[in-house]
Amino acid sequence: DAAGPGPGVLSGRTVLITSGPTREALDPVRYLTNHSSGKMGHALAAAARDAGARVLLISGPTELPAPHGVETVAVESARDMHRAVMDRVAGADIFIAAAAVADYRPEQSAGSKIKKTDSETALRLVPNPDILREVAALEQYRPFTVGFAAETDALEAHARGKLARKGLDMIAANWVGADRGFHTDDNALEVYWPGGGHTSLARADKPALARQLINLITERYHHAAT
Ligand code: CTP
Ligand code: CA
Repeated sequence: DAAGPGPGVLSGRTVLITSGPTREALDPVRYLTNHSSGKMGHALAAAARDAGARVLLISGPTELPAPHGVETVAVESARDMHRAVMDRVAGADIFIAAAAVADYRPEQSAGSKIKKTDSETALRLVPNPDILREVAALEQYRPFTVGFAAETDALEAHARGKLARKGLDMIAANWVGADRGFHTDDNALEVYWPGGGHTSLARADKPALARQLINLITERYHHAAT
């Protein structure tokens, strides 16, 4: 329900959350990024805190204030985010990957500003580590692992594909593009888990949606633990 989890349903648990975009430097003044605002990840951090959890938030650059009572670590690149997560994951009971992590970064980041007259115009990219996949594949200290999928088409097929490929416990999928998803204050989610489980969370503002998702995660987490 929209009221969200009762206080204390996650007390004694640690929840690790990634949020926001990443920035992949081209040179000291330019970078590649995406439209993520961080609103959903930050709302999840607040909702998990309200459910009694200790919350660690690893956030790419956003305009949002750090939520009260949440230990927030600011990062820039996907590799920074990867390191920050891997350093802290051993103590986490639940991991929620809400960040929009850049899949690729420029092969080289120039030490000084690239000039218009530099003749090279092609951009060579190399893959970033997939943080979510790596956490889900941990053999020791593997937390209950939740991913997101933002899609412009074939939502369920893509989301279930990611759930299976990355070995997740749950995935929350939403439509993006043309006014949906990123900078908006509300959203709707289709949530899937292994064994065919599915719930729709109807359009709501992100704080309300986050409380519902934390509810669902808590339920599945306790279910998995028994
Ligand atoms: N993710 C991550 N590290 C990456 C890329 C993605 O942790 N390097 C996480 C995101 O935080 C999200 C999930 O993986 O929870 C799905 O991200 P998405 O971009 O939809 O999936 P990809 O596997 O990168 O597939 P694609 O971009 O091709 O749709
Ligand atoms: Ca991606």
